[in-house]
Amino acid sequence: MKLNLRTLAGVALATISQVSALRPEVMLSANRYGAAVPNPSGEFALFTVQNYSFETQETTAVWKRLDLRTGDISVWYEGSDISEVVFVGPNPTSIIYVNGTNEEDNGGISLYSADALSLEKAKLIASLPAPFSGLKARKTPAGDIHFLMYAKAYPNGTAYNEALASTPASTARIYDSIYVRHWDTWLTPQRNAVFGGVLRGPEMVLSGDMTNYVTGICNITCAESPYDQSDSSDYDISPDGSAVVFLTKDISLPLANYTSTQIYYVPFDGSAADAIPINPRGGTKYTEAQGASSSPRFSPSGKKIAYFQQNGIFYESDRNMLYVADANPEDFNVTRLAGDWDRSPGSLDWATDSEMIFVAAPDFARERIFPIPLTAGSAYEPQNITNEGVLAGFYVLPDNSILVSDSKIWSSRDIYTVTQQGEVTQTYFQANLVDPELAGLGPEIVSEFYYETNTSEIKQHAWIVYPENFDESKSYPLAFLTHGGPQGAWFNSWSTRWNYKVWADQGYVVIAPNPTASISFGQNLTDAVRGNWGSLPYWDLVHAWRYVNETLDYVDTSRGIEAGASFGGYMTNWMQGHEMGRWFKALVTHDGSTSTLNQYASEELWFMNHDFNGPFNETGLRPGSPYYDWNPLRFVESWATPHFVIHNDLDFRLPVSEGILLFNLLQTQGVPSRFLNFPDENHWVLQPENSLVWHNEIFKWINYYSGVSNATSPY
Ligand SMILES: *[C@@H]1O[C@H](CO)[C@@H](O)[C@H](O)[C@H]1NC(C)=O
Ligand SMILES: *[C@@H]1O[C@H](CO)[C@@H](O)[C@H](O)[C@H]1NC(C)=O
Ligand SMILES: *[C@@H]1O[C@H](CO)[C@@H](O)[C@H](O)[C@H]1NC(C)=O
Ligand SMILES: *[C@@H]1O[C@H](CO)[C@@H](O)[C@H](O)[C@H]1NC(C)=O
Ligand SMILES: *[C@@H]1O[C@H](CO)[C@@H](O)[C@H](O)[C@H]1NC(C)=O
Ligand SMILES: *[C@@H]1O[C@H](CO)[C@@H](O)[C@H](O)[C@H]1NC(C)=O
Ligand SMILES: *[C@@H]1O[C@H](CO)[C@@H](O)[C@H](O)[C@H]1NC(C)=O
Ligand SMILES: *[C@@H]1O[C@H](CO)[C@@H](O)[C@H](O)[C@H]1NC(C)=O
Ligand SMILES: *[C@@H]1O[C@H](CO)[C@@H](O)[C@H](O)[C@H]1NC(C)=O
Ligand SMILES: *[C@@H]1O[C@H](CO)[C@@H](O)[C@H](O)[C@H]1NC(C)=O
Ligand SMILES: *[C@@H]1O[C@H](CO)[C@@H](O)[C@H](O)[C@H]1NC(C)=O
Ligand SMILES: *[C@@H]1O[C@H](CO)[C@@H](O)[C@H](O)[C@H]1NC(C)=O
Repeated sequence: MKLNLRTLAGVALATISQVSALRPEVMLSANRYGAAVPNPSGEFALFTVQNYSFETQETTAVWKRLDLRTGDISVWYEGSDISEVVFVGPNPTSIIYVNGTNEEDNGGISLYSADALSLEKAKLIASLPAPFSGLKARKTPAGDIHFLMYAKAYPNGTAYNEALASTPASTARIYDSIYVRHWDTWLTPQRNAVFGGVLRGPEMVLSGDMTNYVTGICNITCAESPYDQSDSSDYDISPDGSAVVFLTKDISLPLANYTSTQIYYVPFDGSAADAIPINPRGGTKYTEAQGASSSPRFSPSGKKIAYFQQNGIFYESDRNMLYVADANPEDFNVTRLAGDWDRSPGSLDWATDSEMIFVAAPDFARERIFPIPLTAGSAYEPQNITNEGVLAGFYVLPDNSILVSDSKIWSSRDIYTVTQQGEVTQTYFQANLVDPELAGLGPEIVSEFYYETNTSEIKQHAWIVYPENFDESKSYPLAFLTHGGPQGAWFNSWSTRWNYKVWADQGYVVIAPNPTASISFGQNLTDAVRGNWGSLPYWDLVHAWRYVNETLDYVDTSRGIEAGASFGGYMTNWMQGHEMGRWFKALVTHDGSTSTLNQYASEELWFMNHDFNGPFNETGLRPGSPYYDWNPLRFVESWATPHFVIHNDLDFRLPVSEGILLFNLLQTQGVPSRFLNFPDENHWVLQPENSLVWHNEIFKWINYYSGVSNATSPY
């Protein structure tokens, strides 16, 4: 299949007027929205809105109710008690919600039942003795409610409540196999488990103990669901409440070096002992399906289960393929749909008639919705029904139109409905038209281009984001942003961590390229980075930069800066030792990789084992081994460009020593450099007060070196 890439270079530019620049504190205090979740009759939807005030240093949380007939939006609930709402019960307006605090104030949570239209009459129905979350619930034909939630569980299966657990005298941790910590958390004997509970009769009385479906399923590894930092998307309950599916890491493989997961099926009234895999490794007719599974979802008919699975057994960025199983433990009869489709969808919802599945897939730096019928053979080519943005969530309504919540570079939340044929029927909400902080933002602040490079036959993509009051007859210094992953992409989406417009409004034209390794342009481009970290994507970035230098008159490349996080930080460190490093006035590495060897101080060994062509003990440090060839440290004597380094203590993906190593060597080399550390942040800076410092300190640095500010020092 040939990729259909369009060249968008040479888009005519108008002079853009904007009300005021998007300053970091303004962006950070603007509203943050959840996805709109419709009630079963499609009459209204609920969504969350939160914001942070730098004045009061407090977060405000509100639930809003969107009337899908009139479009009216009103406050539904003010406060932070209600953490989750699920539509279930006698009427289409009946709900159960999770109150994050427990009546008994013991570290557990409470469940309340209510009618969404008279919330003040909510009734406490259950107090659960652990911090359960991820509520999914269904009404059974007998009129009971069957619900699922998850919490950490002791190895004996009992739910774990940290607030009630006894604290040992010593803080020692001891491990006998790898995978001792992940993301920002050290592993403990307690692992996630999905629990089922029954609420009986119209009074919804919690009946008996909750059932743990997961703990105790062990071979080499023990089952855990949701897997690690994942969430309720890892499990589902059938529409009549009679069956449960959940996914777990492959229990026959060690945890740290394989991505393989399987989906298990268990009757609701069964137990962990009754759970059987739907897609045991090598056990379906698709023996190549060995990798990570995701998003198991029952069809509305209850007869089918859709899910995604990758082939690569230790490749986390392989292509997700869509499968459908019969919800029949005698014979799951797994079928693959649109198997040749060169896209990797990540979430799904069923059509009301259970004959079609809507999937969301990264597609040309957007995330688009594609309908796929159950009859789709391998050669079926799905057609998108949405266009711009990246999805926050989407739900099929009773009339088979879809309620979409997404974000875009210019809007932190849009909510609209679209038909199965791709016709937008109602636009309910656009944050950029409502929120004063986003005033003046619109599609015209963004452009894109495709550039020729020497690594792929296809042209490659990059975004352009313009600064406030952009005038194409003037010239602005370049802010060149390099994305992480490497199997990731710069998308048309809103971000509170890497918000293109916030960078642009310091006075730059932002260029955000999607080189080799980027997702959403076909699997070959993604896969090509394997064994090639320092070559192909670097060459592509050289070509992207040259394209800008040669064709965009309004960009002043002689005063450019470059910044990247994670793999983007690795690439920044690689540039520092190579020709490209000299093309920038300043560099910024956020939580990047400095020594390829230290990848073995990370947790997900499958990642390096894949991307660097094998485990370190096999490839070694010899020339020809990616660990050697692509190690930025080998080029330390060339480091010369002023370099701002951020690295956080709770980053267990790339440990803080990476940032310290980089900073120490920069200082040793006499390269102007600065080190910013947050003891309480992980791979990402999430707390608004920390994020404000992050932005302000980086901007002081790059604005000084690029000459955007008149400051007499970068500090
Ligand atoms: C991907 O690469 C393979 C192997 O080189 C090739 O056969 C295939 O046609 C490529 N796919 C696309 C969509 O370009
Ligand atoms: C934050 O949320 C509150 C409650 O919805 C609202 O009154 C306020 O205007 C919001 N603040 C900002 C800066 O949007
Ligand atoms: C949540 O629970 C607390 C008691 O722990 C109670 O005071 C509060 O009213 C509850 N809120 C809601 C919305 O149910
Ligand atoms: C499971 O283990 C925990 C921690 O040791 C203990 O508190 C709990 O009582 C045990 N549960 C059962 C059912 O034995
Ligand atoms: C995978 O993990 C196991 C157990 O932790 C270890 O013995 C083995 O060497 C690892 N394999 C690779 C390829 O790293
Ligand atoms: C445990 O895993 C091994 C290796 O995959 C497999 O051969 C064996 O059958 C498994 N044992 C059980 C009880 O599942
Ligand atoms: C398995 O599924 C396929 C595709 O839906 C169907 O054609 C076939 O009849 C099913 N086989 C069984 C045994 O149900
Ligand atoms: C589908 O994507 C294309 C770009 O590939 C876009 O032009 C088109 O508008 C999208 N279709 C719909 C219905 O949104
Ligand atoms: C591709 O272009 C880059 C940047 O100009 C260059 O360094 C590299 O050698 C080229 N690679 C090949 C295979 O031509
Ligand atoms: C960038 O463009 C200028 C003007 O065309 C040219 O003189 C310069 O050599 C280019 N820089 C690089 C590194 O290619
Ligand atoms: C490297 O580790 C792997 C996985 O543990 C093992 O299978 C292999 O034999 C080791 N290779 C060497 C050269 O020691
Ligand atoms: C730079 O200095 C001039 C003169 O003091 C001032 O007018 C201008 O606003 C300053 N620009 C910036 C970006 O600080």
